[in-house]
Amino acid sequence: MEKVTTKKSADWISSRLSTPEPPRILLILGSGWGPVVEDLMVIEKSIAYSDIPGFPVSTVEGHHGTLLLARMGDVPLYVMQGRFHYYEGYSMQEITFPIRVFAHLGVRGVFLTNAAGGIDPAFRPGQLMAIEDHINFMGDHPLRGPNDNASGPRFPDMTAAWDPRLRNILMETASAEGIPLHSGVYLAVSGPSFETPAEVRAFSGMGANAVGMSTVPECIVARHCGLRVTGLSCITNLAAHLGGAPLTHEEVAESARDSHAHVIGLLRGSIPSMHAQ
Ligand code: 6GU
Repeated sequence: MEKVTTKKSADWISSRLSTPEPPRILLILGSGWGPVVEDLMVIEKSIAYSDIPGFPVSTVEGHHGTLLLARMGDVPLYVMQGRFHYYEGYSMQEITFPIRVFAHLGVRGVFLTNAAGGIDPAFRPGQLMAIEDHINFMGDHPLRGPNDNASGPRFPDMTAAWDPRLRNILMETASAEGIPLHSGVYLAVSGPSFETPAEVRAFSGMGANAVGMSTVPECIVARHCGLRVTGLSCITNLAAHLGGAPLTHEEVAESARDSHAHVIGLLRGSIPSMHAQ
């Protein structure tokens, strides 16, 4: 099949989602985060990923595959309801293709969300963590291969991959609204198996506070394109049976639902300030 370019995909999207004020923020909703849309924003237009040239099609249960043009008060947003995961079999380039498309469409900041297992002993299921930094433990890299010099440098800097000012907005919103919010390091594995107890001990020693199977490739590519990145993990369970019973995907989806009110408060309070940055 012929490879669809970033530009072609971007042009197609802008022809379908045309708006006087194009969004400057892209919000990517991970596992269990889909329902925040109804309580938080007005949907102006929606498109199935399967209709967008160049987009892979999400295959995981419980993940939507819809791109929204939405509005939170005055703030226009692109929202990806559902993302592409490496464990589904896509390449790193495929799962990060949308980031390049939205950079082309004029997005300046990316807000990444996910479900993660808690490694930090202070974390409880249903709690939220602002992503302070990451560890790429996926065994692959989205920028491997020829570099697109027009997009960014061969060896991009990652010292402040997770934007300190945007994270500060999250932390300040949380304290103003009385919402408990951790801050910590997200470690990404390729999945699809959850971690063994020995892996969790190893990751803890490496400095990880939470572990998941996404988000890091998108952050790396967004930084390569010069976008600012922030993000939240919903701690859906304790990693590696620390909670007793074996882990299931259903448990992950259930805890994501329990954190709903805090998530709504945090996004409602912080996204307008991020837009204004
Ligand atoms: Cl415990 N591990 C990983 N890798 N991803 C997760 C998770 C655990 N819980 C939710 N997502």
